[in-house]
Amino acid sequence: MNRDEVQKYIEERYPGFKVLGKKTILCRNSRIFMLDLCKGQTRDKIVVKISRNYQPREVDLEFANLSRFYYGCKDEAISSPRPLFVDAENGILAMNYVEGVNLAHMLHEIRPVSLQYLSCAANLSGIALAKFHRLFRRGDDEPVTIDTNAKEDDINRFLAESLERRDQCNLKTMVTPFFDFTSWNIITKNDCSKNGRSKGMRLYLIDFPRLDYVCTPHLDLARFRFGLELVKQFPPARFFGLNRWDVDSLYDRFLKGYCREMHVALSPGDMGLIARAKLAYIRRAQDLARKGRCGWQPKLEQAYLQTFSRAWLDQGDVFSGWPGMGRAEKA
Ligand SMILES: Nc1ncnc2c1ncn2[C@@H]1O[C@H](COP(=O)(O)OP(=O)(O)O)[C@@H](O)[C@H]1O
Ligand SMILES: [Mg+2]
Repeated sequence: MNRDEVQKYIEERYPGFKVLGKKTILCRNSRIFMLDLCKGQTRDKIVVKISRNYQPREVDLEFANLSRFYYGCKDEAISSPRPLFVDAENGILAMNYVEGVNLAHMLHEIRPVSLQYLSCAANLSGIALAKFHRLFRRGDDEPVTIDTNAKEDDINRFLAESLERRDQCNLKTMVTPFFDFTSWNIITKNDCSKNGRSKGMRLYLIDFPRLDYVCTPHLDLARFRFGLELVKQFPPARFFGLNRWDVDSLYDRFLKGYCREMHVALSPGDMGLIARAKLAYIRRAQDLARKGRCGWQPKLEQAYLQTFSRAWLDQGDVFSGWPGMGRAEKA
């Protein structure tokens, strides 16, 4: 579907509404259409997400998970876009547009913000993940399930071995992992009331999971850390000397927010499991076979990482590049 076809599709779906403006963003896994709708005095902005390489059951599941979080998360500061409809056969999911800036853009310094803002966003991200895990909790005795059809060898291996290590962990709940819990899927906004007084930050989670894994929460905790380290491998931080924030302190803030909300203190066993999951993600970043179908962008990214981030990709020890245990335990 191109832009005009999407417009026609939406105008048929919402009789009486006209699409006044539209913008397209091409992403790796999807095409995002942002549409301004108008009917009389009513104005609305919606997002139509059309997935690439989708399977209808995956699109259905993403919509179901988005809806479950939107209606289940009762928090002033944390939410998600409001789900509108899903047309899984055509890979289409619609939701309302949320105002704000992608957290990754702030970390890349494309949209610089103060360190205090970043720290607050990291803390709120940890709380948001804890709320997600509470809503998506599974039975404690549920076996870890892995999608054997997915080309996720490194992650699958991690999931299989995580069971053996669960005894040494304080974080024992089983959850459906968010899976892609990175700053690219977090939008934040500083809410200001009409008189300009700040009401504080709002955070929206987007891009909900499409796979029904069962795992301990360590997978998502590691994914966030991996995302922070990944940002540091790209040009703004690598070549332009833009290094105002630091991975360890931001991750500490994130873990603190998470642990407080979950009422749990992480043990060395927990930290070890997070570190192992992170290594699985780093190995996954090198796996071209998994990304091969999705065009030139992942290939270019991988070639770039292999050239400039060899040491990071090759780190062998689970705790290399990891905050000291003392600091992590304090979280
Ligand atoms: N509801 C929304 N409101 C505002 N921006 C959005 C919304 N949904 C997606 N976006 C923008 O589109 C980008 C890609 O969306 P996402 O759901 O993460 O797709 P993908 O699965 O391809 O990663 C996001 O990074 C965000 O900038
Ligand atoms: Mg995304």
